[in-house]
Amino acid sequence: MADETAAELKVITVDEAVRRLRAGEVVAIPTETVYGLAARIDRPEAIARIFELKGRPQDNPLIVHVADPAQVDEIAVVSDIARTLMDSFWPGPLTIVLPKRPGVSDDVTAGLDTVAVRMPAAPIACEILRGVGVPLAAPSANRSGRPSATIAQHVLDDHGDRVCVVDGGPCEQGLESTVVRPLNDKILMLRPGMITREALTKATGLSVVDPELGDLRRSPGTQHRHYAPQVPVILCDDLGRLREQAGMGNVMILSAVDPGVDAFWHSLDARTVFAHFREAERLGVDKILVHLDETVRVDEALMNRLRRAAES
Ligand code: TXA
Ligand code: MG
Repeated sequence: MADETAAELKVITVDEAVRRLRAGEVVAIPTETVYGLAARIDRPEAIARIFELKGRPQDNPLIVHVADPAQVDEIAVVSDIARTLMDSFWPGPLTIVLPKRPGVSDDVTAGLDTVAVRMPAAPIACEILRGVGVPLAAPSANRSGRPSATIAQHVLDDHGDRVCVVDGGPCEQGLESTVVRPLNDKILMLRPGMITREALTKATGLSVVDPELGDLRRSPGTQHRHYAPQVPVILCDDLGRLREQAGMGNVMILSAVDPGVDAFWHSLDARTVFAHFREAERLGVDKILVHLDETVRVDEALMNRLRRAAES
């Protein structure tokens, strides 16, 4: 009971979030992708607190969230291609890595000469960004190495009473934004997400390519352990083999159709996959079996998160 009361105190209104963020605090906010742990980009102590709360490696830069494209001009150099991307996909789940202007603190960009920017679409996030009036740095709100938080309770589970959260309900998309770096003649895909390669090419006429190893090192988040629950994740192409494996222990199954075996089953969906990873930990199952059917195999963003969860 005492715990519940403490948790309730940690759920705050939009107005309270704006007040606290303006004052230089860290607050967890909902976006259409996942919950973020936000702070003003011009408050070094608050940025340091984000890294501390997340247990995030110092070499992993943060995404700067803006209320409108005009805010980007103050922090980054915007090319014509970048402008086209903003016009086509903002507000929405596209993060654009751009050359940064000198005013942006190295704490936010981990010393890189670029800054990642995104204008989120979720109405609550927009209201908060407009209310604060200063861009907000916000990584995903999970503790480093954990699956991203897609409901407010996940934030409280990871941070206890150390963070206040605005409860916007379940995130509409459930996977993190697409991260791209536009160059003169092509677009580098640093992290796949809901905005697909095809959509990016259609909007710009440019090809979307995977970064070389050197470029990947410049997007350090792609190198770190990520998206993984504490329970082993096993990917399986064949439903028959998955059923056999399910017979050998206490498992959770994520698949499009009910496999009809004695196990915890949920349908596999980008919106809920991280929530199910976390649920599997709570249930104490031995492993999570994921069925990769044709629809899943062609979903680059979902496959990326599943592979990385299965790797660790
Ligand atoms: O959907 C999202 O993007 C969520 C919500 C809260 O907006 N945020 C999010 O942040 O996923 P985070 O910190 O978990 O992931 C940011 C990714 C990391 O892989 C990071 O390395 C990369 O973006 N990144 C940030 N700044 C970068 C930069 N200047 N150059 C290259 N990659 C960068
Ligand atoms: Mg993250």
